[in-house]
Amino acid sequence: MIGSPTTADAVAAWPHRYLLDVDHLSRAEIEGCLALAVEMRARREARERMDVLRDEIVGLAFYEPSTRTRVSFELAARALGATTVDLSVAGSSAGKGESLIDTLRTLERTGVTTIVLRHAASGAPYLAARSTGAPIVNAGDGTHAHPTQALLDALTLRDALGELHGRKVAIVGDVAHSRVARSNLHLLPRLGASVWIAGPPAFLAGFQGWPGVRVAADLDEALLDADAVMTLRIQLERAAGGGIPSLAEYAAGWGLTTERLAKARPTAPVLHPGPTNEGVEISAELAASERSLIGRQVMNGVPVRMAVLALVSGAV
Ligand code: NCD
Repeated sequence: MIGSPTTADAVAAWPHRYLLDVDHLSRAEIEGCLALAVEMRARREARERMDVLRDEIVGLAFYEPSTRTRVSFELAARALGATTVDLSVAGSSAGKGESLIDTLRTLERTGVTTIVLRHAASGAPYLAARSTGAPIVNAGDGTHAHPTQALLDALTLRDALGELHGRKVAIVGDVAHSRVARSNLHLLPRLGASVWIAGPPAFLAGFQGWPGVRVAADLDEALLDADAVMTLRIQLERAAGGGIPSLAEYAAGWGLTTERLAKARPTAPVLHPGPTNEGVEISAELAASERSLIGRQVMNGVPVRMAVLALVSGAV
């Protein structure tokens, strides 16, 4: 067993063999996962050996491009002693018309014990969880969910702000097509944050009445006295471009800059899940400034994914 008494108590109750979104997690499970990530982060920084996944083979099935998420899952699995198998979809039978389920079952039969799945179809990891026996971790499905990103965002926000209860977090941009935003809209209110969303109307449709979330009338209302601001890439590959006249007009109206951030609290940090399109949703200057937590988000990706892999595998 890994962990301090509190972490151990929290994770002992972890009942899931999958992580499909954060909405199926209880507050205690979220806290247990974050506590385990903090502990694993410290142990990794101290170069302590952790090999709770030494008998596991983690399959990385990425059907969509990824840099941060794929690399950090791979490093997370290896940091816990697992072997990793990279299913490069371009070079696999998926490119020959094999169904997702057949591909995942093939992975399982070859000995893969946990599957990390990224897919363009919203809901694909749910189908995978029903059709295979291996634990499934959703690494982003369509516009639906990106649970490990939301967990690492929460950890990064807590590192910067402490407890999130009563904190105002503004999420600006293409909320409608963003799986990162949707998972954060579940998680951050659950941790007590008051979340405001802002963007062109086409990017906010359908979020009125979401528990714990306010739709701002304009950017200034969202930013006013915000404790933290998260900005999002426009998901052009998901036809989000139709929601705005042009990227230049979007940048002029909604792009986050140091001047615009002045509406927020004086030290409010800015987050972005990456990849950033500098000059569109965030200025290059702000992205590189001391207010930016973008690098911290990437760094926290590894310990959060270590915790998740350990939990779904039942290894802690
Ligand atoms: C995000 C994704 O793929 O959903 N990136 C990530 O995982 N860090 C966000 C995006 O692509 O805009």
